[in-house]
Amino acid sequence: ALLTDQQPAPKVPTLPDAQTVTFVKHWTDRLFSFRVTRPASLRFRSGEFVMIGLMGDPDPKTGKQKPLLRAYSIASPSWDEELEFYSIKVQDGPLTSKLQHIEVGDQIILRPKPVGTLVHDALLPGKRLWFFATGTGFAPFASLLRDPQTYEDYDEVIITHTCREVGELTYGAELIETIRNDEMLNELIGAENLAKLRYYPTTTREESPKMGRITDLLRDGTVFKDLGIEPINPEADRGMVCGNLAFNIEIKEILEEFGLEEGANSDPKQYVVEKAFVD
Ligand code: A2P
Repeated sequence: ALLTDQQPAPKVPTLPDAQTVTFVKHWTDRLFSFRVTRPASLRFRSGEFVMIGLMGDPDPKTGKQKPLLRAYSIASPSWDEELEFYSIKVQDGPLTSKLQHIEVGDQIILRPKPVGTLVHDALLPGKRLWFFATGTGFAPFASLLRDPQTYEDYDEVIITHTCREVGELTYGAELIETIRNDEMLNELIGAENLAKLRYYPTTTREESPKMGRITDLLRDGTVFKDLGIEPINPEADRGMVCGNLAFNIEIKEILEEFGLEEGANSDPKQYVVEKAFVD
């Protein structure tokens, strides 16, 4: 409608770049996931991240509030009409101490500028695609695992997820279950394509069927024996890595030992790395 000076000014949104929370689920006392509305104009590549957050506390001197934003991987695939995020809760974390209390109908800030290196374009063609995640580093792969391209481009897709405790695997484990059994996803991705998916969860501080850090299990060859496959090699294998800093550094060393080189959007190679959000 045409605005004239007789009409009241348009209502200012409560937050800049506001999006509305549509779903929240708490997985453990340290982990939760949520969904928000997606700006109509937002296009992104599965695996990318955006800055999201809330308004910070008022400045004690000026009373002014500034947005408190952090980089979050988009956990939903690019075809999804909403956006999903998977987050840690840090009791004294500047953002997550507040973000963990959001409820359906609340607003968050979302800057619609997706970026990131965990994208198909940053890898050269290959036969096997590995996703290596620890903790909330599963998030970008939750997006990529629901993207048909992931399966179209590779013969085999292997996702490893290492967490301290069994309960921290649940978000990922349920997502894998859904991908395998959901009719809509089966139709979209194709049953033959979904047969390419292998899931390798491990825990380090609680008893589970597979214990140990994935780094150790790669070094001693346990992973390859368990999956009945050849060790990683630069001709066939491609990798995407997302976890805590120490893990990322160690996995990089291991992949380099196997002969893989780190790629980027502008220079695709054999593997790419991104730090999982911590705060
Ligand atoms: P661990 O329990 O042996 O430290 P966090 O919750 O601290 O981010 O850790 C998530 C998972 O990543 C844990 O299972 C942890 O194992 C594992 N991890 C931490 N550092 C490394 C590393 N350098 N290499 C492999 N796994 C790691």
